[in-house]
Amino acid sequence: MLISTSFLSSKNIPKDLTILNETDTDYIHVDVMDGKFVKRKTMPFKEMKNIYRYTSKRLDVHLMVMNPKKYIKEYASLNTEYITFHIETEDVLKNLELIKKYGIKCGLAIKPNTEIKELVPYLPLLDMILVMSVEPGEGEQIFIDETEKKIKELRVLLQEYKSNAMINVDGGINNITKNKCSCADILVSGSYIVLSDNFQDRINDLR
Ligand code: DX5
Ligand code: ZN
Repeated sequence: MLISTSFLSSKNIPKDLTILNETDTDYIHVDVMDGKFVKRKTMPFKEMKNIYRYTSKRLDVHLMVMNPKKYIKEYASLNTEYITFHIETEDVLKNLELIKKYGIKCGLAIKPNTEIKELVPYLPLLDMILVMSVEPGEGEQIFIDETEKKIKELRVLLQEYKSNAMINVDGGINNITKNKCSCADILVSGSYIVLSDNFQDRINDLR
Protein backbone atom coordinates (compact mmCIF):
# COMPACT_ATOMS: atom_id res chain seq x y z
CA MET A 1 0.00 0.00 0.00
CA LEU A 2 1.30 3.49 -0.87
CA ILE A 3 1.05 6.18 1.81
CA SER A 4 0.43 9.88 1.26
CA THR A 5 0.88 11.95 4.42
CA SER A 6 -1.26 15.06 4.96
CA PHE A 7 0.18 17.86 7.10
CA LEU A 8 -3.19 19.63 7.54
CA SER A 9 -3.20 18.92 11.30
CA SER A 10 0.49 19.72 11.85
CA LYS A 11 1.28 22.08 14.69
CA ASN A 12 4.67 22.90 13.15
CA ILE A 13 4.73 22.36 9.39
CA PRO A 14 8.48 22.95 8.70
CA LYS A 15 9.42 20.61 11.55
CA ASP A 16 6.96 17.88 10.55
CA LEU A 17 7.89 18.04 6.86
CA THR A 18 11.56 17.74 7.79
CA ILE A 19 10.83 14.61 9.84
CA LEU A 20 8.57 13.19 7.10
CA ASN A 21 11.33 13.66 4.57
CA GLU A 22 13.37 11.07 6.50
CA THR A 23 10.50 8.55 6.47
CA ASP A 24 9.50 6.39 3.54
CA THR A 25 6.12 8.10 2.98
CA ASP A 26 5.48 7.91 -0.76
CA TYR A 27 3.88 11.34 -1.11
CA ILE A 28 3.13 14.49 0.80
CA HIS A 29 -0.62 15.20 0.51
CA VAL A 30 -1.21 18.94 0.16
CA ASP A 31 -4.74 19.99 1.17
CA VAL A 32 -5.76 23.28 -0.42
CA MET A 33 -8.96 24.97 0.79
CA ASP A 34 -10.50 28.20 -0.51
CA GLY A 35 -13.06 29.10 2.19
CA LYS A 36 -15.84 28.56 -0.43
CA PHE A 37 -15.94 24.90 -1.49
CA VAL A 38 -15.22 24.17 2.18
CA LYS A 39 -15.37 26.53 5.17
CA ARG A 40 -11.69 26.63 5.98
CA LYS A 41 -9.06 28.47 4.02
CA THR A 42 -5.47 27.24 3.86
CA MET A 43 -2.44 29.50 3.43
CA PRO A 44 -1.97 31.33 0.11
CA PHE A 45 0.25 29.76 -2.56
CA LYS A 46 3.08 32.21 -1.95
CA GLU A 47 3.49 30.66 1.52
CA MET A 48 2.55 27.10 0.53
CA LYS A 49 5.23 26.99 -2.15
CA ASN A 50 7.88 27.19 0.58
CA ILE A 51 7.23 23.53 1.46
CA TYR A 52 9.88 22.69 -1.17
CA ARG A 53 12.44 23.86 1.39
CA TYR A 54 11.56 21.05 3.75
CA THR A 55 10.61 18.14 1.53
CA SER A 56 11.98 16.44 -1.53
CA LYS A 57 9.00 14.06 -1.63
CA ARG A 58 6.61 14.18 -4.54
CA LEU A 59 3.39 16.06 -3.86
CA ASP A 60 -0.17 14.76 -4.12
CA VAL A 61 -2.21 17.98 -4.27
CA HIS A 62 -5.88 17.89 -3.19
CA LEU A 63 -7.75 21.03 -4.28
CA MET A 64 -10.88 21.54 -2.16
CA VAL A 65 -11.80 24.68 -4.10
CA MET A 66 -14.70 26.01 -6.21
CA ASN A 67 -12.50 27.11 -9.10
CA PRO A 68 -9.62 24.64 -9.63
CA LYS A 69 -8.41 26.52 -12.73
CA LYS A 70 -7.11 29.33 -10.53
CA TYR A 71 -4.77 26.94 -8.69
CA ILE A 72 -3.62 24.39 -11.29
CA LYS A 73 -0.78 26.41 -12.86
CA GLU A 74 0.71 27.32 -9.49
CA TYR A 75 0.62 23.81 -8.05
CA ALA A 76 1.90 22.35 -11.32
CA SER A 77 5.08 24.39 -10.79
CA LEU A 78 6.01 22.42 -7.63
CA ASN A 79 7.38 18.86 -7.35
CA THR A 80 3.87 17.58 -8.04
CA GLU A 81 2.92 14.09 -9.18
CA TYR A 82 -0.87 14.38 -8.87
CA ILE A 83 -3.32 17.27 -8.89
CA THR A 84 -6.80 16.27 -7.79
CA PHE A 85 -9.90 18.45 -7.66
CA HIS A 86 -13.54 17.72 -6.88
CA ILE A 87 -16.02 16.29 -9.36
CA GLU A 88 -18.63 18.50 -7.65
CA THR A 89 -17.17 21.59 -9.40
CA GLU A 90 -17.69 23.15 -12.85
CA ASP A 91 -15.65 22.64 -16.06
CA VAL A 92 -14.36 19.24 -14.93
CA LEU A 93 -13.23 18.13 -18.38
CA LYS A 94 -11.43 21.41 -19.17
CA ASN A 95 -9.61 21.34 -15.84
CA LEU A 96 -8.51 17.70 -16.27
CA GLU A 97 -7.12 18.62 -19.68
CA LEU A 98 -5.36 21.64 -18.21
CA ILE A 99 -3.58 19.47 -15.61
CA LYS A 100 -2.50 17.05 -18.36
CA LYS A 101 -1.18 20.01 -20.36
CA TYR A 102 1.32 20.65 -17.58
CA GLY A 103 2.45 17.02 -17.73
CA ILE A 104 0.99 16.24 -14.29
CA LYS A 105 -1.17 13.22 -13.42
CA CYS A 106 -4.79 14.19 -12.77
CA GLY A 107 -7.33 12.97 -10.27
CA LEU A 108 -10.94 13.54 -9.33
CA ALA A 109 -12.09 13.57 -5.71
CA ILE A 110 -15.60 12.46 -4.77
CA LYS A 111 -17.43 13.49 -1.61
CA PRO A 112 -19.10 10.79 0.54
CA ASN A 113 -22.56 11.43 -0.95
CA THR A 114 -21.44 11.51 -4.59
CA GLU A 115 -22.06 8.29 -6.50
CA ILE A 116 -19.18 6.56 -8.26
CA LYS A 117 -21.14 6.34 -11.52
CA GLU A 118 -20.61 10.11 -11.89
CA LEU A 119 -16.97 9.29 -12.65
CA VAL A 120 -17.73 7.25 -15.77
CA PRO A 121 -17.49 10.04 -18.40
CA TYR A 122 -14.04 11.04 -17.13
CA LEU A 123 -12.48 7.60 -16.64
CA PRO A 124 -10.38 7.61 -19.85
CA LEU A 125 -8.55 10.72 -18.60
CA LEU A 126 -8.10 9.85 -14.94
CA ASP A 127 -4.86 8.73 -13.30
CA MET A 128 -6.37 8.71 -9.84
CA ILE A 129 -9.67 8.79 -7.98
CA LEU A 130 -9.67 10.18 -4.48
CA VAL A 131 -12.54 8.74 -2.47
CA MET A 132 -13.35 10.95 0.49
CA SER A 133 -14.05 8.87 3.59
CA VAL A 134 -15.08 12.00 5.54
CA GLU A 135 -16.73 15.26 4.45
CA PRO A 136 -13.91 17.40 3.02
CA GLY A 137 -12.79 20.38 5.04
CA GLU A 138 -11.19 19.20 8.28
CA GLY A 139 -8.63 16.72 9.54
CA GLU A 140 -9.18 14.46 12.58
CA GLN A 141 -12.67 13.28 11.55
CA ILE A 142 -14.14 9.77 11.83
CA PHE A 143 -13.95 7.39 8.85
CA ILE A 144 -17.37 6.81 7.23
CA ASP A 145 -17.90 3.02 7.17
CA GLU A 146 -19.87 3.01 3.87
CA THR A 147 -16.61 3.92 2.14
CA GLU A 148 -15.55 0.27 2.28
CA LYS A 149 -18.40 -0.76 -0.03
CA LYS A 150 -17.86 2.27 -2.26
CA ILE A 151 -14.21 1.48 -2.98
CA LYS A 152 -15.02 -2.17 -3.66
CA GLU A 153 -17.62 -1.05 -6.20
CA LEU A 154 -15.18 1.44 -7.65
CA ARG A 155 -12.60 -1.34 -8.15
CA VAL A 156 -15.20 -3.31 -10.15
CA LEU A 157 -16.16 -0.22 -12.17
CA LEU A 158 -12.51 0.45 -13.07
CA GLN A 159 -12.10 -3.14 -14.26
CA GLU A 160 -15.27 -2.89 -16.30
CA TYR A 161 -14.03 0.27 -18.06
CA LYS A 162 -10.41 -0.98 -18.29
CA SER A 163 -9.13 1.99 -16.31
CA ASN A 164 -5.73 1.92 -14.59
CA ALA A 165 -6.60 4.84 -12.29
CA MET A 166 -5.25 4.53 -8.76
CA ILE A 167 -7.76 4.47 -5.90
CA ASN A 168 -6.82 6.85 -3.12
CA VAL A 169 -8.83 7.06 0.14
CA ASP A 170 -8.74 10.21 2.27
CA GLY A 171 -10.04 10.93 5.77
CA GLY A 172 -9.99 9.19 9.13
CA ILE A 173 -7.40 6.60 8.12
CA ASN A 174 -5.67 4.80 11.00
CA ASN A 175 -4.46 1.29 11.87
CA ILE A 176 -8.09 0.06 12.27
CA THR A 177 -9.86 1.82 9.38
CA LYS A 178 -7.09 0.89 6.91
CA ASN A 179 -8.53 -2.65 7.05
CA LYS A 180 -11.66 -1.31 5.33
CA CYS A 181 -9.56 -0.02 2.45
CA SER A 182 -7.80 -3.14 1.19
CA CYS A 183 -9.13 -2.42 -2.33
CA ALA A 184 -7.28 0.92 -2.45
CA ASP A 185 -3.83 1.71 -3.87
CA ILE A 186 -2.97 4.79 -1.80
CA LEU A 187 -4.06 5.82 1.70
CA VAL A 188 -3.98 9.46 2.74
CA SER A 189 -3.39 9.86 6.44
CA GLY A 190 -2.98 13.07 8.39
CA SER A 191 -3.57 13.17 12.13
CA TYR A 192 -2.77 9.49 12.71
CA ILE A 193 0.78 10.20 11.50
CA VAL A 194 1.55 13.85 12.26
CA LEU A 195 -0.02 13.94 15.74
CA SER A 196 2.05 10.92 16.83
CA ASP A 197 5.56 10.85 18.25
CA ASN A 198 6.91 8.37 15.71
CA PHE A 199 5.88 9.10 12.13
CA GLN A 200 7.70 6.11 10.61
CA ASP A 201 6.03 3.64 13.04
CA ARG A 202 2.61 5.00 12.08
CA ILE A 203 3.43 4.77 8.36
CA ASN A 204 4.53 1.15 8.88
CA ASP A 205 1.19 0.42 10.60
CA LEU A 206 -0.68 1.62 7.52
CA ARG A 207 1.24 -0.27 4.83
C1 DX5 B 1 -9.90 16.38 4.82
C2 DX5 B 1 -8.61 16.38 4.08
C3 DX5 B 1 -7.73 15.25 4.48
C4 DX5 B 1 -7.29 15.31 5.92
C5 DX5 B 1 -6.89 13.95 6.39
O1 DX5 B 1 -10.76 17.30 4.29
O2 DX5 B 1 -8.83 16.27 2.69
O3 DX5 B 1 -6.62 15.11 3.61
O4 DX5 B 1 -6.20 16.17 6.10
O5 DX5 B 1 -6.65 14.05 7.74
P1 DX5 B 1 -7.02 12.88 8.76
O6 DX5 B 1 -6.17 11.69 8.40
O7 DX5 B 1 -6.70 13.46 10.08
O8 DX5 B 1 -8.49 12.56 8.58
ZN1 ZN C 1 -7.08 15.66 1.45
